[in-house]
Amino acid sequence: MRNISKDAPIGVFDSGVGGISILKELIRILPNENYIYRGDSANAPYGLKSLEQVRELTFQHTKELLEEGAKAIVVACNTATSAAVRSMRGMYPDLPLVGIEPALKPAALQKEHPKVVVMATPMTIREEKFQSLMKRFEDQAQIFPLPCPGLMEFVEAGELEGERLERFLEELLSPYLEKNIDSIVLGCTHYPFVKKTIQRLAGDRVTIFDGGAGTARRMKSLLEQANLLNPSDEEGFVQFENSLGTEEKFVQCETLLQWEI
Ligand code: DGL
Repeated sequence: MRNISKDAPIGVFDSGVGGISILKELIRILPNENYIYRGDSANAPYGLKSLEQVRELTFQHTKELLEEGAKAIVVACNTATSAAVRSMRGMYPDLPLVGIEPALKPAALQKEHPKVVVMATPMTIREEKFQSLMKRFEDQAQIFPLPCPGLMEFVEAGELEGERLERFLEELLSPYLEKNIDSIVLGCTHYPFVKKTIQRLAGDRVTIFDGGAGTARRMKSLLEQANLLNPSDEEGFVQFENSLGTEEKFVQCETLLQWEI
């Protein structure tokens, strides 16, 4: 058992800047906690790597966050979660650990037999975790898995709006929009940062789901159970780390934390 203090930070990890969409939810629900947010932008995108590469990178970053004193870990990346979280639970049985998976459940139960598009990285869609999630809801909803190679790159490059992004998304989504879909699940933590454009293209009758709030609530309840909530009544700090280490990346992290989704 690790000897850990309650004001130790929560380590939040993603392949890049996307997990900041989860960090925002964590801060909303747990404002008095301290955070280390680590993005591996130098190795992104994870969604196009091999399973073994993503597992190794995720293990390594988790280990380093724990060495830095993190009391809990949020894997704020659907791709890394599908590749590595099950093994991590075996490696760290006492650690409050939360991953993220596409929010298919609320989308599938939203109404009687809805049509649901799930946008995610090729690896998330391919891996067993999502395949079995899809099986669980295949009787309740018509589900269209949509791998989106190239989309997280817009967010990493800071291109959150504009014509180029709009054209890219239009090409990706138009075959599904023609089918009169009811909802879209954002199954990659980068995608909430381009939600406005997705919503505009899909129209108001399409509901967009993401798993950020659920992930943050789950972290809160794990910290409660472990008696590790920070008792401080002051606002916590956020420390950004990024494997690219450039000044621009850190500025981008701060900007995204303030970005309205
Ligand atoms: N943010 C990651 C996710 O939630 C994926 C981006 C990547 O391909 O690295 O899946």
